[in-house]
Amino acid sequence: MTRRYSRITGTGSYLPPRRVTNNDLVAELALQGVETSDEWIVERTGIRARHFTAPDMGASDLAVPAAQAAMQAAGVQPADIDLIIVATSTPDMVFPSTAAIVQHKLGISGCPVFDVQAVCSGFVYALAVADALIANGTAHRALVIGAEVFSRLLDFKDRTTCVLFGDGAGAVVLEASDTPGILATDLHADGKHVDILCVPGHVSGGQILGDPLLKMDGQAVFKLAVGVLDKAARAVLAKAEMEASSIDWLIPHQANIRIMLSTARKLHLPPEKVVVTVQDHGNTSAASIPLALDHGVRAGQVKLGQTVLLEGVGGGFTWGAVLLKM
Ligand code: ACO
Repeated sequence: MTRRYSRITGTGSYLPPRRVTNNDLVAELALQGVETSDEWIVERTGIRARHFTAPDMGASDLAVPAAQAAMQAAGVQPADIDLIIVATSTPDMVFPSTAAIVQHKLGISGCPVFDVQAVCSGFVYALAVADALIANGTAHRALVIGAEVFSRLLDFKDRTTCVLFGDGAGAVVLEASDTPGILATDLHADGKHVDILCVPGHVSGGQILGDPLLKMDGQAVFKLAVGVLDKAARAVLAKAEMEASSIDWLIPHQANIRIMLSTARKLHLPPEKVVVTVQDHGNTSAASIPLALDHGVRAGQVKLGQTVLLEGVGGGFTWGAVLLKM
């Protein structure tokens, strides 16, 4: 029996219109007595600007135009979609899932929909799950979306975190195919690191208990990220029986240019093979990889038939990789 694979047939993305440069943020933070600089942010992270969502918009409002662009690129209609997975840590509501809200806004009904919550590894997790559901025949044509409004979680009195994140969404259409497509996936987590990157608050009895703003031990995250990203990359390459030299594009989670380039160095890949959007988007958590992928495709960098390595790492601690042919 021939194996059933999944293949990305269209990509899309959406950024909220409000673009905030480092200098805009420096000026806003100064009003609150918080000191930072464009030089510090660029040197430590590579970030130059990010987009922030208007207060009346949520993750689903970013996800819908990203999904529509991906469907248009794939040449499919909403009625053709039979699975929707949204990777997000900033859902519109506690429940139902943002995927259900997106489904309704796209005019789709009946197909299974759910959210995946793996913070910045969310898109890689969601893509691996969608691949498995297509491979086993549960779905034929999936929308896999990463959508985040991280600006809602930021403590603008904490300069060590508020300069790092932004909002946005990216999406792909993933379709059943006789040929790969997705070559290998590798997912991991280690819950003992919950405290190094978390939003500890929760809703209880009509109130928020605990701190609802993002907390991060940046150095601990940095050290863990560099090690686990290398392991995940090597794991998917081993599963696919391929060498790092056959990778055309590395599209890592866009958190920090230093982490991305160090991952590339360990794989002996030149910086030119890394798709980098962190300078324009900041860290958009689960949205960062599909945003970067769509950017690479639309810029004419990432082409049909090329081999692409996607890698995510984030709160949980979670990490994973997907190796695929476009
Ligand atoms: N502006 C100016 N100074 C600052 C700022 C700022 N915005 N933030 C921190 N500093 C200061 C610190 O106070 C410190 O000062 P001190 O030496 O006087 O104490 C100094 O800069 C150095 O601080 P470090 O924390 O050592 O800076 P570092 O080089 O580690 O960079 C950073 C911090 C950018 C957060 C880095 O650790 C990092 O990128 N970590 C990984 C983050 C990441 O990858 N997250 C991904 C997952 S995200 C997710 O899952 C949601």
